[in-house]
Amino acid sequence: MPGNETHVVVLLSVPESIIMARQAGRSAATELGFGMADRTRLATAISEISRNALRYGGGGRCDIVTAKQHGMREITVTVLDTGPGIPDLEKAMTPGFSTGNSLGMGLPGAERLMDSLKVESAPGNTEVVMVMRRRNS
Ligand SMILES: Nc1ncnc2c1ncn2[C@@H]1O[C@H](COP(=O)(O)OP(=O)(O)OP(=O)(O)O)[C@@H](O)[C@H]1O
Ligand SMILES: [Mg+2]
Repeated sequence: MPGNETHVVVLLSVPESIIMARQAGRSAATELGFGMADRTRLATAISEISRNALRYGGGGRCDIVTAKQHGMREITVTVLDTGPGIPDLEKAMTPGFSTGNSLGMGLPGAERLMDSLKVESAPGNTEVVMVMRRRNS
C-alpha cells in the first residue's frame, strides 16, 4: 500500500468495539489534519453505524481507510455485517424509523454528518460505505 494511505480494521463484537472504532476514526481524522468539528462528525457517524452492525447484524467489522491524493484528504469508512439485512432501505434512511424501539436517527444522522453514505444490504451481507473528504488547506 502506498505511503499516503492508512488502513485500520476494528472488529465489532462487543459494545466496547464501538468505542474502539470511534477512536480509530478520530485518530485517522486527526492524522489527516481534519478540524475538531469534522473529527467529532466522523466519530459520531462511525459510532452510529457500528452500533447498528452490532445490534441488528450481530457484529461485523469496521474498516477505516485514509488517502491523500490530488490535493484532497479523505477517509472512507466501511462497516460490514453478516446479519439478516435491512429489508426496506428507504424506510431505514427515514428519520424516526426504528425496528429497535429507538430514535431512528442513526442512519439519517450519519448521512447528514458525512459527505456521502451508501448502503447495500441483502440477507447475510450489509455494507455501509461513508466518505468524508476535504481539500488540502
Ligand atoms: N446493520 C443493520 N442490519 C439490519 N437492520 C439494520 C441495520 N442498520 C439499521 N437497520 C435497520 O434500520 C433501522 C434504522 O436504523 P437507525 O440507526 O437509523 O435507527 P435505530 O438504530 O433504530 O435508532 P438509533 O440509531 O437512533 O438509536 C433500524 O431500526 C433497523 O431496523
Ligand atoms: Mg442505529
